[in-house]
Amino acid sequence: MASRLSLAGVVFSIFLSFSSLPCQAQLSSNFYASTCPNALTTIRTATRRAVSRERRMAASLIRLHFHDCFVQGCDASIMLDNSPSIDSEKFSFNNDNSVRGFEVIDDAKAQVESICPGVVSCADIAAVVARDASVAVGGPSWTVRLGRRDSTTASPSLADRDLPRTTAALGDLIDLFSRKGLSERDMVALSGSHTLGQARCVTFRGRLYDNSSDIDAGFASTRKRNCPAAPGNGNNNLAPLDLVTPNSFDNNYFRNLIQRRGLLQSDQVLFSGQSTDSIVTEYSRNPSLFSSDFAAAMLRMGDIEPLTGSQGEIRRICSVVNEEQVPKYCCSIKLTLQQPWLYANESGTKLMYKFEVRV
Ligand code: HEM
Repeated sequence: MASRLSLAGVVFSIFLSFSSLPCQAQLSSNFYASTCPNALTTIRTATRRAVSRERRMAASLIRLHFHDCFVQGCDASIMLDNSPSIDSEKFSFNNDNSVRGFEVIDDAKAQVESICPGVVSCADIAAVVARDASVAVGGPSWTVRLGRRDSTTASPSLADRDLPRTTAALGDLIDLFSRKGLSERDMVALSGSHTLGQARCVTFRGRLYDNSSDIDAGFASTRKRNCPAAPGNGNNNLAPLDLVTPNSFDNNYFRNLIQRRGLLQSDQVLFSGQSTDSIVTEYSRNPSLFSSDFAAAMLRMGDIEPLTGSQGEIRRICSVVNEEQVPKYCCSIKLTLQQPWLYANESGTKLMYKFEVRV
């Protein structure tokens, strides 16, 4: 009896440990191999084109995938515009006037739709684009797992709750990432994407002017020149997140942190005498370790709560749920001129035309 009970206990605990695994088993790298074999090269071409037009776009596209995945999972909810059924996430605190790159996803999606209509999800395109953006600026590559579907909902309130704020304490950031299945180390590696891109003055003004000793004085005075103290003044003025090489993927971000030259408070908090200091030091000394940890963390981030199987849908246009899209051929009218004929009566003779109308 006792052995039967303990066997049941083992089976139950195996079940528990499997059921708490992330959903990665449902995604696979060859998901479109037979249904759209050219999807990945098509997406890569669109991404390369966008990044060669504007190098900062690589940063924006990596961030877009992050802001998608942290809000109800990697389901392209961030891409939905306001509509009768959708309250868009685009205007939530962290996204409004900030998150960029939607037009690149739309372009890649249009190209992919033209070769395989209705097959490749917007959520998968965002994941592939993020990887291709990393590669385009000298960052690591990874094999993206595919098979995500698109949501039919969006949630600005979840965006406000689940996207990190620059003012958060280290412990709160660690908790937030751990609720998404990501470790402290994943969080530090992923924050390393601040080796790319720009931030607006409104996001780092507090850090420049709060008289803290946690910032290099020379760095603060340089940044103050383009970010005035008065709230509302120059809010949208940009500064590079990595002051040394903002357009290429390297480990300078971590070296900056050690010199107290992190731009955001949430950057510097990673090296502020607390538990993540040692990870920052490791990455500052070992760029290839940072690269491989970053790739692994991006893969784990891409696994956050995907919709699979019959959940959600494959949107035809990323910014609108299918139900609200105007059917493409609804309103075309075909007029066909039939053979004209002569019609005669007592008032004269007329040439008559007959049209066939098809809607
Ligand atoms: C740890 C918490 C994080 C906070 C508080 C944070 C906050 C921010 C802020 C405030 C900006 C500037 C936005 C603006 O001025 O409009 C920014 C930019 C950026 N973030 Fe983060 N971030 C965090 C983590 C991440 C992660 C995990 C990633 C990617 C996986 C990421 C990728 C980026 C990139 C690439 C940019 C530059 C975007 C551009 O130039 O368009 N961040 N972040």
